[in-house]
Amino acid sequence: DKRKSSNVVWHEATVTRTRREAANGHRSVILWFTGLSGAGKSTLAHALEEQLHCMGMRTFVFDGDNVRHGLCSDLGFSPADREENIRRIGEMAKLFIQAGVIALTAFISPFRSDRDRVRALVPEGDFIEVYCRASLDDCEARDVKGLYAKARKGEIKDFTGISSPYEEPDAPELIVDTGSQPLDLCVEQVIRYLTDCGIIK
Ligand code: PPS
Repeated sequence: DKRKSSNVVWHEATVTRTRREAANGHRSVILWFTGLSGAGKSTLAHALEEQLHCMGMRTFVFDGDNVRHGLCSDLGFSPADREENIRRIGEMAKLFIQAGVIALTAFISPFRSDRDRVRALVPEGDFIEVYCRASLDDCEARDVKGLYAKARKGEIKDFTGISSPYEEPDAPELIVDTGSQPLDLCVEQVIRYLTDCGIIK
């Protein structure tokens, strides 16, 4: 085995995920938000976190601001770099669910294979894919960061939806119409799902 980790021994914690979940009073899961740039992934993740936090849950949001400036600052937007970006975030989110936390991740994650690889990292039911559905027209019309305009002018290469693909989820646990539905209803929809599944009480 030529892997760099081949002589590293896994140390089993006595404070297990199960004990942490019991202490927290809720299950830990990955809420994986995916969708186009400007679809509202981060907005929804943070609004949801605000509500869950107020309900006493342990949560953490991962998004471009805390990941692409640090852990993934060496990565750009080529397909290979996006794959590595999602791989690292997936591994990080996996650690957070072991820590008993509800991890909310807000990344475009445009490739189905990359998202499915994260799904396969954790036990079944722990990866909840939330498709933040908004049309390209809507995202482009809003163009909050002015990036679509730049991409149209050819100033940004590999821009999702313009010059790089976005693969819609085949069977996401949830589809939230962030393009047309008000934010509070989107939050409510996810909270209802978590309650119905017994993840939170
Ligand atoms: S990915 O595909 O999941 O690795 O992308 P992600 O880490 O979520 O980063 C997306 C944000 O980076 C900005 N940005 C770009 N997006 C798409 N394509 C290109 N080429 C690009 N260059 C910069 C953009 O602001 C994205 O932010 P969001 O929050 O999604 O609008």
